[in-house]
Amino acid sequence: MAKKIVVITGSPRAKGNSNTIAAAFMSGAIAAGNEVEVFDTTKARLGGFGGTGSKEDQDRLDSLMKWADVMVLASPLYWKGFSAQIKLAIDSFAKFLSIEGKEQLSVKEAALIATGKSPDGFSFYPMVEEYKHIVEMLGLENKFTLLCPCLNGVGDVEKRPILLETAVKYGMEI
Ligand SMILES: Cc1cc2nc3c(=O)[nH]c(=O)nc-3n(C[C@H](O)[C@H](O)[C@H](O)COP(=O)(O)O)c2cc1C
Repeated sequence: MAKKIVVITGSPRAKGNSNTIAAAFMSGAIAAGNEVEVFDTTKARLGGFGGTGSKEDQDRLDSLMKWADVMVLASPLYWKGFSAQIKLAIDSFAKFLSIEGKEQLSVKEAALIATGKSPDGFSFYPMVEEYKHIVEMLGLENKFTLLCPCLNGVGDVEKRPILLETAVKYGMEI
């Protein structure tokens, strides 16, 4: 069954590793007949929870969360966590925690794409713990976590085609 997917990106590097992997995921998802929208948190001016930001940007994110079946968070690993930009989007999801909020949220499934410089998977644990908490609190089902170590410079992921192939496959199977 075709799904509506919102991909929320968190890297300020347009051609960075997480955006490239997210694009591979999207190509697979679109090829399989799904509808995909992107929300780039690094271009938006979000205020997080209760802060000041662009109402237009926050409204667009909210309406995507009330439209999509699946939310994909694609972030670089910064200080073992999400980037500050994508964190502002995540904090704004607090509005979906109440009973009334949950009724408005159409997203039912989630996935995580994360890229980091560190060669070991353990560095991703704090981010994964936070992701698991978000999934649990919003009442979502985790579809996949694609953790990609050993990536630092722009273009590093091109040297690891298995990561892009996996992302395409996850997109086709979402
Ligand atoms: C502010 C900052 C903090 C970072 N912290 C970590 C970290 O804790 N662990 C790690 O493995 N890589 C860390 N990195 C490296 C990035 O995760 C890595 O370069 C990643 O590939 C960037 O993703 P992008 O290419 O999508 O921008 C950090 C980079 C920056 C700029």
